[in-house]
Amino acid sequence: MNYQNLLFSVNEKVAIVTINRPDKLNALNSQTMEELKNIFIELNNNNDVSVIILTGSGEKAFVAGADISELNKLDMLSAKKFSESGQEVFNLIENLEKPVIAAVNGFALGGGCELALACHFRIASENAQFGQPEINLGIIPGYGGTQRLSRQINSGRAMEYILTGNMIDANEALRIGLVNHVYPQKDLIANAVELAVKISLKSRITIRHAIQAINASKEMSLKEGLDYEASIFALCCGSADFKEGTSAFLEKRKPNFKNL
Ligand code: COA
Repeated sequence: MNYQNLLFSVNEKVAIVTINRPDKLNALNSQTMEELKNIFIELNNNNDVSVIILTGSGEKAFVAGADISELNKLDMLSAKKFSESGQEVFNLIENLEKPVIAAVNGFALGGGCELALACHFRIASENAQFGQPEINLGIIPGYGGTQRLSRQINSGRAMEYILTGNMIDANEALRIGLVNHVYPQKDLIANAVELAVKISLKSRITIRHAIQAINASKEMSLKEGLDYEASIFALCCGSADFKEGTSAFLEKRKPNFKNL
């Protein structure tokens, strides 16, 4: 498929998707949202891809938000659809069978912060700035920010950031658990790739099950979540990769997972 606003490459089972509208700080217009949906469906079905890195073009922004020139035209009716269709794309990313790492290389504001939150985990460059500045536009976050930010960091902090629109710099993002690691900008992608390659060597089936179980914890009570974990754990034990992983350990060799 051809993409106007995305670049992508695949190497050693790791895909790098780059949102590419640098003159608009990679703001998410409807074309870009449609392309994101299509590329994630495509990559999920691509057997040559085990892990996906999502980043932004240029040195200034990951994504500076939904495109405000499109937002400006919304009315109540179109806004509901706008929000729901954006949420659908981000839900697709969150529930993808393959891990998606956000490599946040600059501003991740509004929809950009929400996009990073929909990824399975986040790493950032030293110049990254997160935030939900929608309050300054007379709206609240509409692509999941009120829900995912308050689950990722504590709800008092999420409340403060959403009510003030204040930005969160990379060190603060690290301190409050919004990102896992911070690197100098020049090293960000290399470190993302290193993490991605490490994950790509695991069994794809087990990775999918781990994502499923961890995501379920956001929806379920502890009791339901533990029951679910036991079922998924049992499913793992029915796989050839489980036999391979445990046998390889006992035979003191590296496992050779077949994704079966
Ligand atoms: N939607 C549409 N265009 C955007 C945008 C967005 N969310 N964010 C940045 N841009 C555009 C600017 O309009 C500008 O375009 P122009 O050169 O055609 O005028 C270009 O990107 C560069 O942005 P600029 O504001 O000049 O850069 P800056 O370094 O002075 O400021 C930001 C950077 C991120 C602080 C500022 O662009 C900003 O506040 N953006 C909006 C953030 C936001 O509210 N996001 C939430 C939307 S829901």
